[in-house]
Amino acid sequence: MKSTATASYNSIAKTLHWLIALGIIFMLTLGWCFDFFPKGESRFFAIQLHKSVGITILLLVFLRVLWRLTHAAPPFPATMPLWEQRAAYAGHFLLYAAMICMPLSGWTMVSASAHNIPTILYGLVPWPNVPGVQDSPHRELIDHVTDFIHANLALAFAALIVGHAAAAWRHHLVAKDDILLRMAPRFVHGILYRLRGQK
Ligand code: HEM
Repeated sequence: MKSTATASYNSIAKTLHWLIALGIIFMLTLGWCFDFFPKGESRFFAIQLHKSVGITILLLVFLRVLWRLTHAAPPFPATMPLWEQRAAYAGHFLLYAAMICMPLSGWTMVSASAHNIPTILYGLVPWPNVPGVQDSPHRELIDHVTDFIHANLALAFAALIVGHAAAAWRHHLVAKDDILLRMAPRFVHGILYRLRGQK
């Protein structure tokens, strides 16, 4: 029998969640595949695309944080133990932190780069450097630190995403509650119910 999805995220929250999620998976994959692009025009194109999608994600995350600060998330089911609710809040907080720090570190890194290659979003819209970074006496240090953060945070971010997705599937298939369904688009609900043996 289908359980009743009492409180669900609305379509704005779902759209932002899935656009950002797909964008981040694309960005991690592209970032880890740069070396497969031959040096020259194609690697340059890959990095420009990476910068464009990364800044787009930063803007979407800004909207998402605004939305989240002005709308309460639906409450967790009463059956969910307190420790698990706290772990979920902590996980979500870390995901938000990574969603903000990952594009900010990338943007600061390119702003501090000795190459100082202009960022033109999708080859169309000029995007500025982070103010004050290129002319800073600490430019080289900023470049190294943000490069280190960007590369290592990517690994932590991927681990967080895997944990987040695993927890959502555990809710769906083991606890059989509506946690996954409330963030899933309506058109996949039927498939999700069938996956756990419900019609
Ligand atoms: C959610 C957003 C982002 C994700 C998930 C992401 C992910 C990654 C990953 C996984 C790498 C490879 C790290 C390594 O192992 O060395 C990378 C490299 C890089 N990223 Fe990002 N990135 C994001 C946003 C940005 C933004 C906004 C910019 C700049 C505007 C940027 C610029 C770069 C550059 C320049 C590199 C190094 C390319 C190279 O020289 O090898 N990234 N990124």
